[in-house]
Amino acid sequence: MNSFLNDTVQGLRAADKYLLSKYFYDEAGDRLFQQIMNLEEYYLSRAEREVFELNRKAICDHFPSEGFRLAELGAGDGVKTLVLLEELIKQKRNFTYNPIDISGNALDLLAANLKAKLPDLAFEGMEAEYFEALQKLSTQTDQPLVLLFLGSNIGNFRRDNVDVFMDKLSSSLRRGDQLLIGVDLKKNPNLILGAYNDSRGVTAAFNFNILKRINRELDGNFDLSKFRHYNTYDPHTGESRSFLISLADQEIHLGAAQESFTINAFEAIHTETSRKYSKADLKDLAEKHGFKVSADFRDGSNLFTDQIWERL
Ligand code: AVJ
Repeated sequence: MNSFLNDTVQGLRAADKYLLSKYFYDEAGDRLFQQIMNLEEYYLSRAEREVFELNRKAICDHFPSEGFRLAELGAGDGVKTLVLLEELIKQKRNFTYNPIDISGNALDLLAANLKAKLPDLAFEGMEAEYFEALQKLSTQTDQPLVLLFLGSNIGNFRRDNVDVFMDKLSSSLRRGDQLLIGVDLKKNPNLILGAYNDSRGVTAAFNFNILKRINRELDGNFDLSKFRHYNTYDPHTGESRSFLISLADQEIHLGAAQESFTINAFEAIHTETSRKYSKADLKDLAEKHGFKVSADFRDGSNLFTDQIWERL
């Protein structure tokens, strides 16, 4: 059975209903996320770019002096990475850039874009699942690895499953390899609430897009006008959470599963977690999974951090 269908059925059967945020990203979802990154309220992308612009030399000084692989999990449009790639090329450093993505289309766009800007870049895109690609890289080469995991994508893991992911990641690396991890920091809760509920409703549209996708791909009958976007932030756990709240008692039918689901008025469907971390949280996470935090780079307002973790 296809996993989108399977995961959706699981989530709608659950006592606390949920949908998985990884299914936001179809073509329309990718476009909406691009728009989110340009919103005034969504400070994350701007802050991380600033981290790179302010610290490009110091960051690259941490990378191996001999030949190395620079791999990236879920490279996206590569705007932030470009700052580092430019610096490395300027310094004539010996490295190959290996962006990893399950979308071949995204990799083709990235390749075209980067080759135009950086003709000297050694670019080898890998169209695969993260762990499959890392496995393949480790059999291909003995060169040390610097792995980029940017954009606070780590935040999408809830408290109860981030450890499973980090364990797998840690076992995919060798001693001495580096992880450059970009993470949104705990901060004024009002700023976080605004970032996930912008005044133009782009984030709400992004959230609703998962219902549209279910309607289209799984033959669902969600009536979007009967839901509202709602978000919360818990300053203790650092979890920013997004929901779709049902405005009425309703029956949802999924044609692809030949199954119906009852949703009551004001029942919530959880759609995304975007967890925030403190510096202490990150030290704990790193050490729990066999890493040492070797550097911590910030934007001018301390909104975001990019840390270098060394695999011990
Ligand atoms: C791409 C997962 C980092 O959680 O901040 C943006 C996605 N969701 N606005 C995030 C997102 C709503 C974003 N990540």
